Amino acid sequence: MANLTAERELALDFLRVTEAAAIESAKTMGQGDRKHSDHVAVEAMRKVMDSVPMNGRIVIGEGERDEAPMLYIGEEVGGGMFSDEARAEFPEVDIAVDPLEGTNLCALGANNAIAVLAAAERGGLLNAPDIYMDKIVVGPSCRGAVDIDAPVKDNLKNIARRLGRDIDDLTVICLDRPRHRKLVQDVRDSGARIRLISDGDLSAGISAAVAGTNIHALMGIGGAPEGVITAAAMKCLNGEIQAKLVWDPDRLGVDRSKVPAAEIVMERLRSMGINDPNRLYDTNDLAPGKKIIFAATGVTDGALLRGVRFFGAGKRTHSVVMTTDSRHIRFVDTVHVEGGPDAVIRF
Ligand code: FBP
Repeated sequence: MANLTAERELALDFLRVTEAAAIESAKTMGQGDRKHSDHVAVEAMRKVMDSVPMNGRIVIGEGERDEAPMLYIGEEVGGGMFSDEARAEFPEVDIAVDPLEGTNLCALGANNAIAVLAAAERGGLLNAPDIYMDKIVVGPSCRGAVDIDAPVKDNLKNIARRLGRDIDDLTVICLDRPRHRKLVQDVRDSGARIRLISDGDLSAGISAAVAGTNIHALMGIGGAPEGVITAAAMKCLNGEIQAKLVWDPDRLGVDRSKVPAAEIVMERLRSMGINDPNRLYDTNDLAPGKKIIFAATGVTDGALLRGVRFFGAGKRTHSVVMTTDSRHIRFVDTVHVEGGPDAVIRF
């Protein structure tokens, strides 16, 4: 991205993008149709994205070109409303999107569904495969105190020491999945408390990096694309993520027939430039960008963001926008006025 001013302006443009996706998906809240909720979020995100003055490229999106009609990996986005001349001056931006993180959460009207994206200069976000990833995420005070390969108890001891509290005053957040049976047991044995969530390890990871949420670490296996977007948020929040790709059905606790064979995964990884599938990724490996923008808008109420509220004269959204350069974490409360001149805006 060209300069700081351009980055700040783009951050506000990206805010419009996540707000639009959140509003459209929130309209479908509780309808029990996760695919539809996702679809409307994707459409809204794609449409507004086109109005952003950038030469954008999707690096993490809805899938490969042949399986996703919009926001597919490699799709060029942005600048749609501008002349070729103007576009030639726009910054080159790589973008990772999750138009609706927590499709089930939205479909069921449960907490913590968000619309989210991360952007960076070209090459600033890892082009991660859509497979699973083991992750540990902590906030700024615990940076450097954890090791994804260490026993759970050691990590919790170190987190507790850094936070100046006992292990039993810690809360670990973790997806509620059979594959986490041992992890959950290890956390329980160490004395820490656990919050098991049905979905949404991206927003959970962000909560772990923000003091006051009463979440002190995210642990466990979730999606790799979510891991990259989490890393972008960690760069802005001074938190830390460590991660490793996971494809072994035994670790995932699923039948071999349910996941692609190891050779297929390896081939896919090689084609994406990943030669060491067992590599440990840190925050900078996942999001190496120097100029990162992160934007998220609440779809349903959550630990950090309120969900979209609808009222006669419009809608109200709650978002967070942050960049690595500006050192501002902005929580943005937007009223989208739709009524005429008599529309009443409530505080
Ligand atoms: P969706 O938003 O695509 O529904 O993903 C939700 C999610 O819970 C992610 O937060 C998480 O990384 C992933 O799914 C876990 O995958 P799985 O449900 O297969 O365990």
